[in-house]
Amino acid sequence: MCEISVLGIFVADISFSGPKIPAIGETILGNKYNIGPGGKGCNQAIAIARLGGKVSFISKIGKDNYGDLALITLKKNKISSSNIIQDENSQTGVAGILVDQNSGKNAINVITGAPSSLTINELDNHIDTIKKSKIFLTQLEVPKEVIIHCLKTAKENGCITILNPAPASEISKEFYKYIDFFTPNETEAEFYTGIKITNDKDAKQAADKILNLGIKKVVITLGEKGLFYSDGKEQIYLKASAVKAIDTTGAGDAFNGALAFALSQKKTVEECLRFANRVGGLSTTKQGAGDAMPWSKDLF
Ligand code: RIB
Repeated sequence: MCEISVLGIFVADISFSGPKIPAIGETILGNKYNIGPGGKGCNQAIAIARLGGKVSFISKIGKDNYGDLALITLKKNKISSSNIIQDENSQTGVAGILVDQNSGKNAINVITGAPSSLTINELDNHIDTIKKSKIFLTQLEVPKEVIIHCLKTAKENGCITILNPAPASEISKEFYKYIDFFTPNETEAEFYTGIKITNDKDAKQAADKILNLGIKKVVITLGEKGLFYSDGKEQIYLKASAVKAIDTTGAGDAFNGALAFALSQKKTVEECLRFANRVGGLSTTKQGAGDAMPWSKDLF
């Protein structure tokens, strides 16, 4: 039985590293490029698998070269492809990523491709996987009606649910009651609350506003500043681990995957957050997204 199911996308990340992220209208000479596995859902599933978790990844890809990359990636990371829908009439998605080599920060444009046509009917062929898992983790890269259907089913079947609300976009009120952990980064938290987070006080205010929507627990990840957690009673602020970041792409995914894994190990919330914080930080020390997810051996 899989303990954690992840719904999300696989895309090929085409990433360009250079002295800065170019401004609109500007051309710069970069110095490195890479094509590798990406997509928040796939990155999160890889993170869980590499930490030693039993994970199922539910997604849709095309029958093309990048679709082959998806299948090779899953195999390499020992993740079953039995919940992957392959559609010969759709293209596997891509993401264009610009990385600033000095700070490791990025800007991303994702074309999700095949999963943009994912339907509830297609998903229902894989719904038992969600029903049988202990933890269900997803993001906002597949159609919203499919996400809410899965969150609702997961909750009705006793799963702990995590919504990583990325990329930030409007969600209906109905979502809130099916979310246990809501894990925006600071930009996404600002989108949902209107509060620009510059210090701990802002983070607490934003977290309170999110909890008032009916979400049970919120974790706002703050990049190199760490994270803020609140469930309304307990509040935890953790500093980020000191690392030399070379590429922050997928750090949030490493964090979310590690959070799901740690929760499946029945650790306390604080232990889960400390662990995920460390895994997220470590992922920034390697280039790429899926390929940069840490292995459990990297943690010692
Ligand atoms: O979170 C990083 C990921 O977001 C990248 O791998 C990119 O593909 C986008 O989905």
